[in-house]
Amino acid sequence: QMRNALNKLGEGIADTKQRESFEAEMDGFFELYQRYLISTVKGEKLNWANVHTPTPEEVVDYSKLRAQKEPEEPESAKKYLSKLGVLKLNGGLGTSMGCVGPKSIIEVRDGKSFLDLMVRQIENLNRVYGADVPFILMNSFNTDSDTETIIEKYKGHNINIRSFNQSKYPRINKDTLLPIPESAQDSPDAWYPPGHGDIFESMYRTGVLDELINAGKEILFVSNGDNLGATVDLDILKYMIDSDSEYIMEITDKTRADVKGGTIINYNGNVQLLEIAQVPKEHVEEFKSIKKFKYFNTNNLWINLKAIKRVVESQELKLEILPNPKSIVRGGKETQVLQLETAVGAAIRYFKNAKGVNVPRSRFLPVKTCSDLLLVKSDLYTLQRGTLVLSPNRYGGVPLIKLGDNFKKISDFQKRIPHIPAIIELDHLTVTGNVYFGKNVELKGTVIIVCEEGNKIQIPPGSTLENVVITGSLSI
Ligand code: UTP
Repeated sequence: QMRNALNKLGEGIADTKQRESFEAEMDGFFELYQRYLISTVKGEKLNWANVHTPTPEEVVDYSKLRAQKEPEEPESAKKYLSKLGVLKLNGGLGTSMGCVGPKSIIEVRDGKSFLDLMVRQIENLNRVYGADVPFILMNSFNTDSDTETIIEKYKGHNINIRSFNQSKYPRINKDTLLPIPESAQDSPDAWYPPGHGDIFESMYRTGVLDELINAGKEILFVSNGDNLGATVDLDILKYMIDSDSEYIMEITDKTRADVKGGTIINYNGNVQLLEIAQVPKEHVEEFKSIKKFKYFNTNNLWINLKAIKRVVESQELKLEILPNPKSIVRGGKETQVLQLETAVGAAIRYFKNAKGVNVPRSRFLPVKTCSDLLLVKSDLYTLQRGTLVLSPNRYGGVPLIKLGDNFKKISDFQKRIPHIPAIIELDHLTVTGNVYFGKNVELKGTVIIVCEEGNKIQIPPGSTLENVVITGSLSI
């Protein structure tokens, strides 16, 4: 039934090339769908007895990479960089921050968006080492037009930017298990981008993989578009090439805040990624333990391009399916749908000599919420050629910031905090309720501002708040 429905969707496309490309995408979807149906019947249970902490050979300490290498020679760096391409995952929407387009176009610093900062980084690398590192964006049908508008301005620049769209798969009706779209041209809410694990198929299908290989590139550095710490690291690149590893996952020490993140394990003698969704209920607490599973996946990945081609062509890749149920409104009716997704990190087990490299936390600086945005926009960081660097005037780690629901959407955040306060001496900030900040505010120590329902708190321009609790309806 599903096969017939998919065939029908393609029938309405007049252009032969377009129809072929649509059909190839639907084949990819159908393969995923079939695997999903089989797994719901058979169940792909993980055997917990075979889950072990990774061996010392499987996890390399970043500081050891540094110790091994000789001082950086520009000529040698150029040689290594000539083999590299940098790809940003840019198919997801920033819905959790209430933005309507791709998260990567949000302004982060000095009028520059995530995308602008990434371009600066690569331009700088190319200039300093005389290299030609291409910058690749994996968009989706949700993000491509906004992204194209932004990168248009880099046309005349000394940087090779290449973008492509990942797959567009039909959402599935949860009750009938049939596709939601009624034609190939159906509205965007009938489709979804199937997660970043789709990168392999999409690079292959669009020809981007062959383009890179033909241009002499060997390694692809992949990272989340919202991770400001994911810069090109010459030590990891060198290590990857010199040690003949096909896949390197940058992992970092878990803290209590990230116990739910995917972790690296040794399973039946192989390096694998273990996500919380795969863990049997009775072992979830063990999974979260910082002692047994010390690291989590930053999603900064270094992957050998020819190895990608090999695993796609041999149809080996069977990435764990992550079913994502959603509720959408179509034709005024609420409909329960299912999206079948995969994650790029799960591919680690298909690559030879795959390793985790335990990197410092600074390589994981994601912006998931407006609290994160406040941190990266503040005086805690300085911008150096597109890279955020923690200020030397800061002692200790970054402060803990908790902004309430009134600051959840980016538009509300910008309205309520139009000028970012100085927070270099801040340890902890909690703000809830109807609060507005004036210009040139300084926050020190622990500051708690709680505005009661129906009231408003206005922090006046130029004020310094140090170790205070402000509550009620005070307009101080
Ligand atoms: P995710 O949404 O998978 O992970 O996106 P996350 O950002 O850790 O999860 P949230 O924010 O809690 O929901 C990780 C990266 O992958 C891209 C996104 O744009 C983001 O940069 N992505 C996600 C794709 O490129 N395609 C997808 O289908 C999904």
